[in-house]
Amino acid sequence: MTTTSADLAERAARVIPGGVNSNVRLSAPRIFFEHGRGARLWDVDGNEYVDYLLGQGPAFLGHADERVVAAVTRAVSSGMVYGAQHELEVVAAEHIVEALGWADSVRLGVSGSEAVHGALRLARGATGRRRLLRFAGQYHGWFDTVLMTFDGNTGSPATVGQPADHLADWVVVPFNDLAAVRRAFDAHPGEIAAVILEPMMCNNGAIVPQDGFLQGLRDLCTANGTVLVFDEVITGFRLALGGAAERFGVTPDLAVYGKALAGGWPVAAIAGRGELMDAFGAGTVNHSGTFNGSVMAAAAVTATLEVLRDDPPYERIDAHGTALMAGLSERADAAGVALHVQGIPVAFHVSFGRSGVISDYAGLASLDLDGYAAFAQRLCRHGVWVAGRGIWYVSAAHGSAELSDTLTRFGRALDDHVANR
Ligand SMILES: Cc1ncc(COP(=O)(O)O)c(C=O)c1O
Repeated sequence: MTTTSADLAERAARVIPGGVNSNVRLSAPRIFFEHGRGARLWDVDGNEYVDYLLGQGPAFLGHADERVVAAVTRAVSSGMVYGAQHELEVVAAEHIVEALGWADSVRLGVSGSEAVHGALRLARGATGRRRLLRFAGQYHGWFDTVLMTFDGNTGSPATVGQPADHLADWVVVPFNDLAAVRRAFDAHPGEIAAVILEPMMCNNGAIVPQDGFLQGLRDLCTANGTVLVFDEVITGFRLALGGAAERFGVTPDLAVYGKALAGGWPVAAIAGRGELMDAFGAGTVNHSGTFNGSVMAAAAVTATLEVLRDDPPYERIDAHGTALMAGLSERADAAGVALHVQGIPVAFHVSFGRSGVISDYAGLASLDLDGYAAFAQRLCRHGVWVAGRGIWYVSAAHGSAELSDTLTRFGRALDDHVANR
């Protein structure tokens, strides 16, 4: 039953374009949530869902984690934004630097898109170069200078209103293809300011870097005086406390964070080596923002990182995700549905289609992504809240009850799918 959601959707459509505040949500079911607790959500009609979308990633500790809520509530009662400094932002920065282990300093912001923008400006400022290199199928935010069709067609705007020449400086190559990166450096000697990447692809598929790929990028960047930027907006604090850099053992020059950093609060960060970051401090490279380092943001970051440090959920998440990936595959096999499950337990991708490991966007595009997107809507109707693009995120709050409920509901959704095929 979703009557109240349907009524709200009608009201929303009158005053909010498309009824949503982010275009990513245009294709998602129009369910209105009343509250979330732990790994579950409840909608305004009283339906309950096990949540593997986690708000597109931020609810890594689960919804309304008491420790984060208490810290933000306590801090916010004495003020929110000063346009000046306060102690908590220093504490938050100390926590981030300590958690990452490799970065000297950090600037806070609000969204991942801005953080990417700042990191690329910093890289261009430091190198005096314009050109940038990225990987097909990766998403780095919605700004004009980075938004691009996923297929890696260099310079293809992904939206009406985006001038194609804003994309003129990009070189796009396939993920996991070190030879292609090498060729790009050879074709543009001394021109590439930065290589930016999701160290593990999570926006399209869940594709881990092949052995030696990240280290190869590291070496090529060092040899060419190019800044290596990890876009850890998804992977940061999720793949390990020190993110993908820690998990895969390769250190970037700059990295951007968001989502899991602040227990659901809107916070992003640019972290990096001192020689680069100091350009912000000297004022030679501009990075600004009214809400940067607000009291709420600093409190949320501090509380989240203290939880992750003192009560690390990574092993629990690994166990849950491993059992979940296996359980989904088993149920699909039993129902005679070809399910493609790939990734790591904390972030994996599910689609219909062939088996076999996929290593780049072209491989991903060969799956039945549209068929799965339709199935994801069916899953939501059966009480498993997931993204249509196939990513499943496991949080610190998912436990055995969620595992068992999810597998039961997944089985029912599959039966429904098979009956309606
Ligand atoms: C890897 C990556 N970079 C950047 C962004 C942009 O972050 P935001 O949506 O907070 O602007 C996202 C958002 O999903 C992302 O996944």
